[in-house]
Amino acid sequence: MSDRNARNRAPQRRPDPVRRVAYQVVRQVTAEGGYANLALNKALRDARLGGRDAAFCTELVHGTLRWQGTYDAFLARCVSRPLPDLDPELLDVLRLGAHQLLNMRVDSYAAVDEMVTLTRSELGQKRTGLVNAVLRKINQRSLDQWISTTAPRPNEDLLGYLGIAEAHPRWVIEAFDRALAGGSTREHASGERAVSAPGLEDLLVADNEPPRVTLVARPGLADVDELVDAGAVPARWSPYGAVLDGGGDPGRIGAVATGRAGVQDEGSQLVAIALASAKVDGDDANWLDLCAGPGGKSALLAALMEDGQLTAVEPLKHRAELVRQNLRAIPGNHKVLVGDGTKPTWPEGSFDRVLADVPCSGLGALRRRPEARWRRTPEDVEELRPLQEALLDSAITSARPGGVVAYVTCSPHPDETRAVVDAVLGRRDDATLEDARALFPGVPELGDGPDVQLWPHLHGTDAMYLALIRRS
Ligand SMILES: C[S@@+](CC[C@H](N)C(=O)[O-])C[C@H]1O[C@@H](n2cnc3c(N)ncnc32)[C@H](O)[C@@H]1O
Repeated sequence: MSDRNARNRAPQRRPDPVRRVAYQVVRQVTAEGGYANLALNKALRDARLGGRDAAFCTELVHGTLRWQGTYDAFLARCVSRPLPDLDPELLDVLRLGAHQLLNMRVDSYAAVDEMVTLTRSELGQKRTGLVNAVLRKINQRSLDQWISTTAPRPNEDLLGYLGIAEAHPRWVIEAFDRALAGGSTREHASGERAVSAPGLEDLLVADNEPPRVTLVARPGLADVDELVDAGAVPARWSPYGAVLDGGGDPGRIGAVATGRAGVQDEGSQLVAIALASAKVDGDDANWLDLCAGPGGKSALLAALMEDGQLTAVEPLKHRAELVRQNLRAIPGNHKVLVGDGTKPTWPEGSFDRVLADVPCSGLGALRRRPEARWRRTPEDVEELRPLQEALLDSAITSARPGGVVAYVTCSPHPDETRAVVDAVLGRRDDATLEDARALFPGVPELGDGPDVQLWPHLHGTDAMYLALIRRS
């Protein structure tokens, strides 16, 4: 290189390592189908980021993924090509920039400059012009201004407005709206309108707040006081729950490290407690968890059993192994079977209590999975339906006469909750739905029953659904 060339070439700045890690994680999620939480934890460890750097990176990754659809609507107005024609890696850089400019307290000059530097190092000098120009356009308006100039008017199309203002796909908002209105498919207007079911906006806002870590003290092995001594505060309704208010790694707590306590959303605790406390006459020593992996509810159920045996079924070997680990500290002769819950290897009517916590879309846990809302599709819900019905059918057949079944989902989508229960009970004459609300003592706003739907905005839990069915 001649002296002149060397002098003319300005020293290239290195990209900010924290933003670079955030970019790499977002790429893993959007391009490779990775899970944000897993990818982020690994990336933070590998890059040895901690403290404020880790917090900044986490907010940047989670926020960018959570608000992706909203930012895309704004970005579409700043580029001349349709967004799908942009290189996906360029689009991710623009989303990361939009999040810093619109939703984080980052100096706007620094945000644009850092994203241009990142673009140069990751994607080449040629792309920096577009990133610079688009992010400067984004920076010309505040988030509220972008929403009011991009979203439909709330008085004309409220759900369309909320989709942009609260970053949820329209089909998800429509499903939540139906569920909040009581889950009926009839008499519920779809399409554009100016009203929604009560609580819809609060629910969407709650979905955008990362949840606090909730712990469960497994009964007989640990108690809430021990978790409180370790810095947690008692949960609102679960007598076994405690919340880590200031965050922190739950693994540092001895009871968690030894399996005497675990990490478990309070809603998950409440549905397991509800099944364990339903009235059952006669024998009560055989319980079945038909869809057990990774085993959080198995562990709570097994710990709640006075005496007897829990059988936990899970088709995926690695998840069955997690169930074993979750059960390791619980005394008793509990069993983990690797198998398909729709093809029972046990005689009909073997169990006194059965949990069918079926695979579902997970739309009730959007708080903890930033990317999930944009990844899930209505087709996922449709495709899961036959398996959900088959598992509930199998759960009822596995219960003895007089025994109970809890049908549980971590989705409030009416096609995964009431529609499944109605379809299966409509085909059988040996099972009836019971009012489950009394099994949630002290928990307010449980609706008209007989089933129970918990909500992030009302209960601070995941949106867990439970229907209690008795075999007759
Ligand atoms: C919602 S998760 C259960 C969560 C679990 N109850 C807990 O609290 O940790 C559903 C589980 O069902 C499993 N599953 C999928 N197909 C199944 C089948 N045919 N029979 C039984 N379980 C199945 C999935 O692998 C997944 O682990």
